[in-house]
Amino acid sequence: MKRSFIREILECITTETISFAGGLPDEKLFPHLELKESANNVLNDASSLQYGTSSGLYALREKIAEFYTRDGFETNPSNILITSGSQQALDIIARDNRDKSITIEAPSYLGAMNVFAMNGLTQEAVSLHSDGIAIDAFEKSIISTKLAYLIPDYQNPTGYTYSDSKRDTIARIVEENDAILIEDSPYSELYFEKKYQSISSQIPHSSFHLGSFSKTLSPALRIGWIRAEEKLLDPLIAYKETMDLHTNGLSQSILNDYLRDVSRYDEHLNLLRKIYAKKMQMFKIYLDELLPEFKHSKPKGGMFIYGEIPDVDISILVQKCLDRGVVFVPGEEFYTDGSKNSEIRFNFTHCKTTDIFKGLNIIGKVLKELN
Ligand SMILES: Cc1ncc(COP(=O)(O)O)c(C=O)c1O
Repeated sequence: MKRSFIREILECITTETISFAGGLPDEKLFPHLELKESANNVLNDASSLQYGTSSGLYALREKIAEFYTRDGFETNPSNILITSGSQQALDIIARDNRDKSITIEAPSYLGAMNVFAMNGLTQEAVSLHSDGIAIDAFEKSIISTKLAYLIPDYQNPTGYTYSDSKRDTIARIVEENDAILIEDSPYSELYFEKKYQSISSQIPHSSFHLGSFSKTLSPALRIGWIRAEEKLLDPLIAYKETMDLHTNGLSQSILNDYLRDVSRYDEHLNLLRKIYAKKMQMFKIYLDELLPEFKHSKPKGGMFIYGEIPDVDISILVQKCLDRGVVFVPGEEFYTDGSKNSEIRFNFTHCKTTDIFKGLNIIGKVLKELN
């Protein structure tokens, strides 16, 4: 079991390091004052310090259910289980599927791969392309695994987004094979062009749809959720109880208070989309100018730009760049076999705009020295 390179890196970087590594939101965009006001409101009532129910604060579940329903995916509060981030949602589902097999994307989210490995799941990795997973291989795999983990919206690590037609095909394949889909969508609100319909909305009886406020509001709140039919959700509540009784009640109440004004939240999301789209554009312009060897596709949302520098030993590049104060994640971290490749993931949301040029300029220079 390897530790996450990203978490290890986050521990050793200094305030001087230019980091394109973690999947961190831009702190300047946290609605800090509004959340502070909500925290104050909540703490005016001593009952906010009491134990809560394992499924989560009902009023917050109602609000999350309403977000789905207004997007055309009919959902009730009874379909929502609040979790400590979507990371815990993955852990809960993995515990309930201990020692089974699961079809995943290659590359995939390291935090999920580690959870699956720890819970004894055998992972079958299927190649991911810029418009979604390779369909024939996916179908072949899911016939035997009956369980799949996909990140169709602005995927981590690649930033890729599934096309509408692949979404339809996957829904059909999951249903025809009596399988279950775990659809992980923490980035779905961070779109630059249009909002995609979840695959789960086509197969509500055969899916877990995972969401999170980490990328849209604040990861420190540690609030995520699972949306599923009650029949699928019920067995998970027992795991949740054994893990932490319930998700941090104060965080839930603060978030619930903040969300009382939905139009304010919508405005906040619009601002995030606008600023992240601008940062991505700027990142791409500097990539093309300073690192033309980096072959990549332009993301339609999310937080990452992924690609490769053919014939370069990325582990040497990453080390030399770290020595010069710039960090990013080598693509091999995102594969179950960890085999060497020339891929790189860049995060474009967290760094200061002035650091984008500086950081990419250093990487470009280091690369020239290596060649
Ligand atoms: C695809 C994916 N799923 C889940 C998570 C976990 O997010 P959180 O637990 O903060 O909701 C992340 C975090 O980066 C992620 O990229």
